[in-house]
Amino acid sequence: MSYKGYSALAGVYDLFNAELDYESWANFIEAAFDRFLQRRPQILLDLACGTGRMTKILSGRGYDMIGVDGSAEMLAKAAENCGYDPRILYLLQDMRSFELYGTVGAVISCLDSVNYLIKEEDLGACFSLVHNYLDPDGLFLFDVNTPHKFETIYGDEAYLFDGELTEGEKRIPVFCAWQNHYVKKSRICTFDLSVFYGDERGNYRREDETQKERCYTREELESALQKAGFEVLGVFGGFDFSAPAKNAERIYFAARAKK
Ligand SMILES: C[S@@+](CC[C@H](N)C(=O)[O-])C[C@H]1O[C@@H](n2cnc3c(N)ncnc32)[C@H](O)[C@@H]1O
Repeated sequence: MSYKGYSALAGVYDLFNAELDYESWANFIEAAFDRFLQRRPQILLDLACGTGRMTKILSGRGYDMIGVDGSAEMLAKAAENCGYDPRILYLLQDMRSFELYGTVGAVISCLDSVNYLIKEEDLGACFSLVHNYLDPDGLFLFDVNTPHKFETIYGDEAYLFDGELTEGEKRIPVFCAWQNHYVKKSRICTFDLSVFYGDERGNYRREDETQKERCYTREELESALQKAGFEVLGVFGGFDFSAPAKNAERIYFAARAKK
């Protein structure tokens, strides 16, 4: 099983998400450790770690990190972002079939990576593997985009992005056209993306890709967690552990591996 995605987008991914506050997110993750674990975990798996922004922060806070992602292009960016860091091991693997060398104290998966599991059996396979590689009572933290977000925010919207990448002294113009298509019946959202990378002579190289996310309800996710051997500890609307609002766009799950 292998994942093919995020090849065109990897180059602009961090630019797109520049405003995301991963330091506050890492504070939330550590607050969840304090709240739900008996002791601070030493080894963490960052599942679908992407360009490694969270992996890097948590390594800086003293954890030994394993970053798994299915996109070689995203992992190449992660390696660039993190430089040589003996605390981080990156593995190019699919989250539906990954293998680790041993168990970990906690698994985190940030920024709706779980929505990329588009079949129910993929979700089940991934959750079972997470359970398998967690220490007894280990913690699984992840977030998803909500049905409200798929139906009313993503919908059939189109976006254009015009920006600039910097590589040392070099400035690279980038332009991205992004079209969503959400089908309520199948609950699959398709994102068609074209990224145009410019060069110093004003020429542009076009790269296209299609991504898909699946919309899951809170109840479906709770049931898949229980089926995989987890106890659901909480579902939150934000980093303050508050209950999700009715129109929340992202919700956060905390689950304990029962063994
Ligand atoms: C929205 S990004 C999130 C990345 C990172 N967690 C972050 O916070 O920026 C989703 C990530 O999931 C990865 N991904 C999607 N499906 C995957 C799969 N089946 N196996 C492994 N990685 C996958 C993509 O390559 C991408 O890096």
